[in-house]
Amino acid sequence: MIKPHGSDTLNPLFVADETAHGQLLQEAHELPSITLSSAAAANAVMLGAGYFNPLTGYMSKADALSVGEHMRTTDGLFWPVPVLNVTDDIEPIKGAARIALRDPNVKGEPVIAVQDIEGIDEFSDAELETLTGQIFATNDPAHPGVATFNGLGRYVIHGPIQVLNFSYFETEFHETFRTAGSIREEFAERGWDKVVAFQTRNPMHRAHEELCKMALDATGADGILIHMLLGKLKPGDIPAGVRNAAIRKMVDVYFPPNTVMITGYGFDMLYAGPREAVLHAVFRQNAGCSYLIVGRDHAGVGDFYGPFDAQTIFEERVPDDALEIEIFAADHTAFSKKLGKVVMMRDVPDHTKDDFVLLSGTAVREMLGRGEAPPAEFSRPEVAEILMDYYQSK
Ligand code: ADX
Repeated sequence: MIKPHGSDTLNPLFVADETAHGQLLQEAHELPSITLSSAAAANAVMLGAGYFNPLTGYMSKADALSVGEHMRTTDGLFWPVPVLNVTDDIEPIKGAARIALRDPNVKGEPVIAVQDIEGIDEFSDAELETLTGQIFATNDPAHPGVATFNGLGRYVIHGPIQVLNFSYFETEFHETFRTAGSIREEFAERGWDKVVAFQTRNPMHRAHEELCKMALDATGADGILIHMLLGKLKPGDIPAGVRNAAIRKMVDVYFPPNTVMITGYGFDMLYAGPREAVLHAVFRQNAGCSYLIVGRDHAGVGDFYGPFDAQTIFEERVPDDALEIEIFAADHTAFSKKLGKVVMMRDVPDHTKDDFVLLSGTAVREMLGRGEAPPAEFSRPEVAEILMDYYQSK
């Protein structure tokens, strides 16, 4: 199986030993504490679950700026997006060397992690603006990721963390939330050596389904890891519970047995397009995957990115020796009425290219809102039914 990023073995920051866990929890209650942003809590979950191997905690300002500019930490580790604990309110922890981090997404704000403070830096306006532009390729506050990032604050609390739990992901998505280590273990049990990862934040329509089947075929991999985002999304996106049900149904009916693992990870969507695609590759390598599917407008939003920017970044900004995982770069995929099947545009002759069933996410949402099922060429009927039920219940 493929090696983790940056080290020979995976070193998740979750404290698994029961005695150590109990002691840490007890200690945490005595420590000064702050409540994290949802973004920082999601970073803690990703660090705890081994997805952000080999990082040992939250980055400093110097590392964040270096990652923004060079996609490397100051130590030279390849990394595409800063992993930060940023806030405006550092009053409660002034002078502290060790602090408890509270989870904003769980009732009662329980402690999710303990952090050793290496230092607290401050972003200047100019630094924040440059960094935002580097991560999101825009500073437009209408971009949902930019708006969230710019609302986090300017004090960067950096240093190693120890993680106590996986927030609401473990309880709300008990069947689906997985750590990188547990995915690796299951690959080994199944005898899967080469696996294709499919990133998604949507219910899977026919194009998504075919992409997975095509990638499996083209790479000769042993299986597909459907790895869905379980964290926060922008308003209008379909909630994780509904997506999960739709994906499980589709796999049940339309995939050969034992070719797919349905799993999820606890992270909030950044909508950072190309940079997020590279982050996706890093953490799928940590989960033991040899390939990541990157299709049209991967991790994008609105018109902020070109349809294939998330593929070209791998050619332009990711040196050959930076990552071991490979990209399965997919062309636009849709149902061709002339050919009577879902195809990838690059695979079919030009004269068949004028009658595709192309629907935007907005068009599909509007149809569902009116109680209409999307056409069978676009969505499997079983998936359409689950989505219609959800829209009718809203
Ligand atoms: S994403 O934000 O998680 O990337 P989504 O769940 O819609 O969004 O897409 C999952 C993956 O499928 C991404 O790699 C995306 O580029 C790809 N994809 C989705 N729809 C198509 C399509 N019609 N043609 C080609 N690739 C697609």
